[in-house]
Amino acid sequence: MSLQDFCRGIPKVELHCHLYGTICKETLTELNERAGRPFTLRQVDGFYIRGDKPVGVLSIFRGLESQLITSARDLYRITCEYLERCKLHNVVYSEFFWNPTGTVLDAKIPFQDAQDAILKAVDEIEKSCGVVGRLVCAIDREASPEKAEMMLDWMLQYPAAKTIGIGIDYRETGHPPHLFAETFKKAKQNGYKLTAHAGEFGEPWNNVDFVLNDLQVDRIDHGYTVIDNPALVQQCLDENVIFTVVPTNSYYLRTLDPAEWAQKHPIRKMVQLGLKVHPNTDDPAFHLVNPTTAWTMMVECFGCTIDDLGRFCQNGIEGAWVDSETKQKWR
Ligand code: ADE
Ligand code: ZN
Repeated sequence: MSLQDFCRGIPKVELHCHLYGTICKETLTELNERAGRPFTLRQVDGFYIRGDKPVGVLSIFRGLESQLITSARDLYRITCEYLERCKLHNVVYSEFFWNPTGTVLDAKIPFQDAQDAILKAVDEIEKSCGVVGRLVCAIDREASPEKAEMMLDWMLQYPAAKTIGIGIDYRETGHPPHLFAETFKKAKQNGYKLTAHAGEFGEPWNNVDFVLNDLQVDRIDHGYTVIDNPALVQQCLDENVIFTVVPTNSYYLRTLDPAEWAQKHPIRKMVQLGLKVHPNTDDPAFHLVNPTTAWTMMVECFGCTIDDLGRFCQNGIEGAWVDSETKQKWR
């Protein structure tokens, strides 16, 4: 059996994937045509390139929100398409991000309509193919703290059992996590689980420290710069902190010399240090990756072993925001 087939067969959870990052080229092309081609076909082609600059991919999402996603029906469709693809890679459970502020304020789709549409897709796909989805509302850190508060207010006004947590995404540089401390505190008080992107863009380890110790997140997305602070590494080891890492999409991958990125990528060191990592796809369509290849890359690029893959499975179960009974069943 090939490594790819082996990785495909592993029952997996996905804990770090952005809904807009899952839109496949065919669907984006169709949405672009419908909108009168605000993007040239060449641009659309160019979006789907592994290793594009961070600003390239993130700016596409802005374009999506402001020009291509025009209705709750679009959200329903892209959610169905994403979760159906999960099935092909034996992803049995996914906690995925969507960004309500862009959807509501730019795409002008009211929060409850957007959430209902995504949840309808989640319910239907669970019935038709057994893949279980959960929603995590992500704060766009390039927007203001007031907009983050607004997002949480919508969540509290329209609570849904399958909306289980909040995160922070978009460009880390110049948008430190402390700006959102109040929103995180209030979300925690209201029973939401917490995660945050930190240490993705090569920002100093302080952001990883801050989200762990001040925001008190339940897990960390990326978190690569943790390796620059041995005391913080020790704390993460002691506290079994889970890092949702992404082999294809990071500052390091995009800036390291292609000849040596795999040797130098912090994920390799994180695994060597014994940190609890779990491989994810982040923006699978735009980085030409899927859960199978993300897991395969852990072996082929970072020298992980089959035993490591077993540990990643356990880390995924540990990091998932499900009850202990479900965790027990998965183990
Ligand atoms: N939103 C979608 N993908 C992202 C990433 N890799 N980093 C930050 N925000 C994102
Ligand atoms: Zn991400």
